[in-house]
Amino acid sequence: MIPLIAPSVLASDFANLQAEVEMLNKSQADWLHIDIMDGRFVPNISFGFPVVEAIQRHAQKPLDVHLMIQEPELYIERFRTAGADTITVHLEACIHLHRTVQQIKDTGAKAGVALNPHTPVQLLEDIIADVDMVLLMSVNPGFGGQKFIHNTYRKIEALKNLIIARNSHALIEIDGGVNLENAPLLLEKGADVLVAGSFVFTSADPLHTIAALKSSSI
Ligand code: DX5
Ligand code: ZN
Repeated sequence: MIPLIAPSVLASDFANLQAEVEMLNKSQADWLHIDIMDGRFVPNISFGFPVVEAIQRHAQKPLDVHLMIQEPELYIERFRTAGADTITVHLEACIHLHRTVQQIKDTGAKAGVALNPHTPVQLLEDIIADVDMVLLMSVNPGFGGQKFIHNTYRKIEALKNLIIARNSHALIEIDGGVNLENAPLLLEKGADVLVAGSFVFTSADPLHTIAALKSSSI
């Protein structure tokens, strides 16, 4: 399986955002992963609508927006207007997750649901048929550059089984600590989309690193 690669803009040079986005346009990246943090759901603040709009003005690839915010239902339409193609909300942040997933779809965006490392995939049983993607956090959300959590492999297997059992078309996206060491096993277990932030942007040659991730299946 050839994975989709979604470099996380969080690790890019914000003072040269246009150049970073143009680099991603030229690369083998499939999507641009955009992390929104509110300082409440996670203990960090990233950026908001004006920055997403600025990225969208230069990006030639879909924007994969990951909302690490409380009450995401208040901001779905604004992120869609700012340019989001996929909008992912955290299960832990949504009291009425089914309603929020429908709200995302009503904007025309694809709907994703994210799970923190401690959240069992079995909680998706009654929503999996309605979502386009499940994002499994393989670090605790809030920061780039953290160490990959190994239990993620087991969660991918369980999620894959659930997707098959429920006849769902949901993609499995892995976010946090992804690199060339863990990518092959992530793909073997059933991952479809790999997010990579610091591994791409701190490498000497991001274009080459993205290409290497793209061809990392075994
Ligand atoms: C973490 C974010 C990730 C982050 C990944 O809260 O959701 O998307 O940017 O960064 P790395 O690849 O450096 O772990
Ligand atoms: Zn993310």
